[in-house]
Amino acid sequence: MRRILVTGGAGYIGSHVVKALGEAGYDVLTYDNLSTGNEWAVLYGKLFVGDLSDKDTIRRAIQDFKPDVVMHFAAFIQVEESVREPLKYYRNNTVNTLNLLEVMIESGVKDLIFSSTAAVYGIPEHIPVNEGTPLNPINPYGISKMMTERILKDLSFAYDDFRYVSLRYFNVAGADAQGRIGQAYRESTHLITRALKTAKGEFEKLQIFGTDYTTPDGTCIRDYIHVDDLADAHLHAVEYLIQGGKSDIFNCGYGHGYSVREVVETAKKVTGINFNVKETGRRQGDPPVLVADNSKIKQKLNWHPQYDDLEYIIKTAWEWEKKLDT
Ligand code: UFG
Repeated sequence: MRRILVTGGAGYIGSHVVKALGEAGYDVLTYDNLSTGNEWAVLYGKLFVGDLSDKDTIRRAIQDFKPDVVMHFAAFIQVEESVREPLKYYRNNTVNTLNLLEVMIESGVKDLIFSSTAAVYGIPEHIPVNEGTPLNPINPYGISKMMTERILKDLSFAYDDFRYVSLRYFNVAGADAQGRIGQAYRESTHLITRALKTAKGEFEKLQIFGTDYTTPDGTCIRDYIHVDDLADAHLHAVEYLIQGGKSDIFNCGYGHGYSVREVVETAKKVTGINFNVKETGRRQGDPPVLVADNSKIKQKLNWHPQYDDLEYIIKTAWEWEKKLDT
């Protein structure tokens, strides 16, 4: 049975991947400091509570568990916060990743799957955006991830047997269909989470950030991907590495997008609640349109998403949101 060490496995995306790995029969160890993750979210394998700033602890986890592959999710992910506190992002997302990589190399663990982001593209000139597009991130979050991608590339040049797959996530949303896990970080500023929390009465109104973009309805367009489809992309990436695939980078999105207004209307329909919406000015650093060209992951990793349906995405997120209080 292959062993996979998952940093950030107690977080939102990591926990869905741990679930998928567990269901597929992998032996999983989650390495998480529980700063935003939760112990109950780890449905398979053991949880090792540790921080990536602490190399000795990473070493203990890796040397005891002897993973075949490491998946690295642990990171800060709030774009606005990264603009206010860039050092926090460079420290946790970039410097701490160096600790993990150093321990991997010294321990002979040479396969990594890295959680990257569409934020590395900044404001792309062509939509849908493909993996060959020059990287031009416009916030420290995106830069911190781009720097890690660069480090991985250099490592793969330096060591013939070091291989990585970097997955660039678009807008991840939704929750486990059985309602066991979902987005539990209460400070989340993501659109679908915010809309549903507003429907629930946690916020008085949902703000729409900008209605004067050059898009059909004036609001930003994003490629929303269900977290279980994203988890499945990770399974394909692991298989690819195990079968000897070369280091590579793949977009993870559906290849089409929805505007903020369309998401809001769908959230109202799914919840049956006509929550308050207020149109306000643009939020700093938002690209008008961000949609993935996903042909590469479909072809090379044979990924076939199953939940490309905004209503389903929002429905699973809504079931989860309602459960969060109980
Ligand atoms: N939005 C609102 N109101 C809200 C929240 C969001 O109008 O209360 C809008 C945003 O302005 C944006 C869209 O909804 O136009 C989506 O915003 P999110 O915050 O949900 O997601 P982002 O597109 O900003 O961020 C996502 C990921 C990041 C990644 C980024 C790449 O969450 O990790 O895509 O651009 F970096």
